[in-house]
Amino acid sequence: TLAVRKKIEELRKKALLGGGEKRIDAQHKRGKLTARERLNVLLDKQSFIEYDAFMEHDCADFGMENQKYAGDSVITGRGKINGRTVFVFSQDFTVFGGSLSGAHAKKVCKIMDQAMLVGAPVIGLNDSGGARIQEGVVSLAGYADIFQRNVMASGVIPQISLIMGPCAGGAVYSPALTDFTFMVQDTSYLFITGPDVVKAVTQEEVTQEELGGAKTHTTLSGVAHNSFENDLDALLRLRDLYNFLPLSNQDEAPVRKCSDPWDVDVPGLDTVVPLESTEAYDIKDVIKGVADEGEFFEIMPSYAKNIVIGFGRMNGRTVGFVANQPKSAAGTLDINSSVKAARFVRFLDAFNIPIITFVDVPGFLPGTHQEYNGIIRHGAKLLYAYAEATVPKITIITRKAYGGAYDVMSSKHLRGDINYAWPSAEVAVMGAQGAVKIIFRGKDVQEKEAEYIDKFANPFPAATRGYVDDVIEPRTTRRRICLDLEMLRTKKLKNPTKKHGNIPL
Ligand code: COA
Repeated sequence: TLAVRKKIEELRKKALLGGGEKRIDAQHKRGKLTARERLNVLLDKQSFIEYDAFMEHDCADFGMENQKYAGDSVITGRGKINGRTVFVFSQDFTVFGGSLSGAHAKKVCKIMDQAMLVGAPVIGLNDSGGARIQEGVVSLAGYADIFQRNVMASGVIPQISLIMGPCAGGAVYSPALTDFTFMVQDTSYLFITGPDVVKAVTQEEVTQEELGGAKTHTTLSGVAHNSFENDLDALLRLRDLYNFLPLSNQDEAPVRKCSDPWDVDVPGLDTVVPLESTEAYDIKDVIKGVADEGEFFEIMPSYAKNIVIGFGRMNGRTVGFVANQPKSAAGTLDINSSVKAARFVRFLDAFNIPIITFVDVPGFLPGTHQEYNGIIRHGAKLLYAYAEATVPKITIITRKAYGGAYDVMSSKHLRGDINYAWPSAEVAVMGAQGAVKIIFRGKDVQEKEAEYIDKFANPFPAATRGYVDDVIEPRTTRRRICLDLEMLRTKKLKNPTKKHGNIPL
């Protein structure tokens, strides 16, 4: 047995080295941490418990039978982030380029299954050359086994992907199915087919970075939810995000001790909205004004900036913020902003996180581009998401709430629990100029405009009908939301039993 013990020791030591010193150096030279170093940063000290460190691939073709590494090309297990359980896999680029073998997939599936069993999130650190070419269809089967689990876990446990190297072909669909996908700048990319294949098929010349780098996916495609400067930064930010999330859909949004007093006025909020109704302002000043310690973890900050989404806390408890951004395209709703906010609202609803919505929206963005690309279908997603959500919903109209967009943005009519208007609120079918043109066909324009503004450019049309519950001074907003959330903790609302709805896609 001494021999066996020695062998165990040896294998463990080998497993720690992955593909060996030379490849580790190459990884470092690229500015990347190794798979193990990454787990050390992500998880609480000494908390990592590894699974399957001895598992090897079982491919016997192309001389693979002579090239085996303990643990193969992925490190899996569980650990803690600030004392809360998380399951992790970290692909090891130093072993066959982190490529996905049958064994690699089995290891990932094992931790996903256990995460589902106990109700804890899964974080995947992706750094892989894709399907293990030597294994053929076994590798493809492995991907599908993971995809199926991603889908079954969706809405049950939070799933997060961090792309820290290549991720191409079929490999992209696991991250795409998870709740959040983050990237590391300059060292990671995501695409279905690389630049060479693109050139052969479409004659387009494009670099890896242009095709699927962090900038592309955080600004153009919306595939990634944010990007970070380097491995270290990305892993530490992931820890921050984790602190906002419940462990599963059976868990309440986490509550953290709050040292920022909630029962006070925030006078700064009184002056955020400019006197001139067409002047822009930064809605993030409002979010930071109400959130604990002004802390706001923004999701997709560089994509569809006309809507702002992200996590914060109110009196210690996680909430999700959704807010039109008057600073960008006047805060109009378009295809990208609708889809961006809709998916976030569905995440919040799936994981019992209350939704705080700030409304300043002049309507949907007009134009052929929007219509041809299906703004009707995509705008419907946000409407659907809000209408379906059963978590506490608190809405504050800070200024404009025009047209169909008024309905969409968590209005009273979509089962909003508490709806407020600030004194600067204007709730109408459209702006005064457009309205007067249509109703009066250009006669007595100025006089009629003044009449229209007098009638609609204030909170009363909504308040007198009970469409908003109260008109509140901006400075009282933080206090009011905290009181409402406290009251809403026992909210119980169920949608009709169904297999699943048919959200417009
Ligand atoms: N299957 C098996 N081995 C793979 C692999 C794969 N899909 N991808 C990479 N590797 C191996 C390489 O053979 C190399 O092995 P070595 O260290 O023994 O020489 C090692 O991983 C590192 O790859 P390398 O090509 O040297 O790294 P790179 O940084 O220059 O390039 C990639 C990285 C991912 C761009 C490149 O490896 C690649 O194009 N891989 C194939 C991608 C693919 O088409 N996958 C299948 C479709 S999903």
